[in-house]
Amino acid sequence: MSGFQGELTELGRATPANGNGCNVFVETYGCQMNVYDSQAIFGLLQRAGFATVQSEPEADVVLINTCSVREHAEHRVLSRVGELRRKRELAGLPQPIIGICGCMAERMGDDLQKNNHRIDLVVGVDNYDTLPGLLGELTGHVEPVQRTVTGHRSEAHYVAPPELYPVNNSHLVTIHKGCDYKCTYCIVPYTRGPQSEKHPDQILEEIRTVVAAGGSEVTLLGQNVTAYSWQQDLDFAALLELVADVPGVERIRFLTGHPRDMHRHLMDAIGRLDKVCPWLHIPIQSGSDRVLRRMKRLYTKAEYLDVVSYARKVIPGVTFSSDFIVGFPGESEIDFQDTLEVVREVKYDQIFSFKYSERPGVPAARLDDDVPVEEKKRRLAELMALQEETWNREAAALVGQMWTGVVEAEARRPAGAWRVRTANNRKFVLGGDGIVVGQNVRAKITGYRNTTFLAEIPA
Ligand code: SAH
Ligand code: SF4
Ligand code: F3S
Repeated sequence: MSGFQGELTELGRATPANGNGCNVFVETYGCQMNVYDSQAIFGLLQRAGFATVQSEPEADVVLINTCSVREHAEHRVLSRVGELRRKRELAGLPQPIIGICGCMAERMGDDLQKNNHRIDLVVGVDNYDTLPGLLGELTGHVEPVQRTVTGHRSEAHYVAPPELYPVNNSHLVTIHKGCDYKCTYCIVPYTRGPQSEKHPDQILEEIRTVVAAGGSEVTLLGQNVTAYSWQQDLDFAALLELVADVPGVERIRFLTGHPRDMHRHLMDAIGRLDKVCPWLHIPIQSGSDRVLRRMKRLYTKAEYLDVVSYARKVIPGVTFSSDFIVGFPGESEIDFQDTLEVVREVKYDQIFSFKYSERPGVPAARLDDDVPVEEKKRRLAELMALQEETWNREAAALVGQMWTGVVEAEARRPAGAWRVRTANNRKFVLGGDGIVVGQNVRAKITGYRNTTFLAEIPA
């Protein structure tokens, strides 16, 4: 496949002609960027002759693609390594080679191999092209010269082979990496490095490959897709136009947008382009201007609400989702009430809310993490309860409508039912014979459970 490795080049290590008969399993934590990167890792290893497997017990090599965004996410990975080692010991099985990839690898580097974590290999986010060589040496029982490979290579972009995608119906396509914002709480600019764009021709080429592999929906991916800018000449709105022109592409989604970059002309384009789905995931983080300033989010509550109301005007059927952080240093009860106010006002379809977690080395780490953990928990629970109440009222009013969506997968419950997603990112479950994944269906909404609706095809 052309452009498979993008501009990544081997780092002078011999790649074995085959993977020494080794089975590799990749376990993924964190955001969609990691999901995409894991596919790219699969692709790189398969090309080097390694077999990739879908379950950990079959694996000779376990690579864990990790997230550093909150302390809890990092702890989970370290205990997962211990668990993997113990399980094999108890079963009397040989130990796997365990490698740490992703944001923790980038953030902690060599430290991961100290402290008795029993980790064999550490490879950061821009160096997965070294994996075939490193694993080739390790599985051939030759110690690699280096077991930790980190450091940003800003021009290196991965292209994951779409035919390997098990991802429902939407093919992820990373359009850039890194982040140039410096929200004071956030580790991502350090783990992923500066923002660096994939060439638009490469993005389009990748999307044509997705279509050739049978896909018709793409999710354009990046920490700040709305800040995409190719040589100050082609912005995200222009990129959407180009992607919408690719024959065979029917639906275009994107993640994540930054409220600051939701310019009117971008929202106009989203509204105008039929193929661009009317769903905006625009994290606000806090509804208090004082907290937003300390977070360095670069917008006010009023500016954010302006974006929402303009989007409602120009994007038919638009829905919203968002991320929130509660208990940022210095967040008072009044600040928190401002956040609740936003939830009441916007009426999100879905929110993802987190307790503030101090990350080493970020600017907010210099502030006093002064909201007690019990108070963070209380605010989190209150925010989630308000969202549930607000959403339940919204959802009840939607029962009885006719919706169109694409069948994405079999539903977990009830047996024999299918999971369907609408263009504006609502999910419903539908029973029926002869339904296949990828099919367009039209159904009547009969009820809901949390954020999933129930539907039936009217007789
Ligand atoms: N690029 C996206 C999201 C990045 S990380 C954006 O700009 O919004 C995903 C989410 O994790 C963030 O939206 C934020 O809500 C949360 N998050 C990031 N750092 C955090 C921290 N230190 N503590 C708690 N939550 C955090
Ligand atoms: Fe983190 Fe802010 Fe960049 Fe999002 S925009 S990745 S929250 S620094
Ligand atoms: Fe986590 Fe790294 Fe994504 S820190 S949220 S996996 S960019």
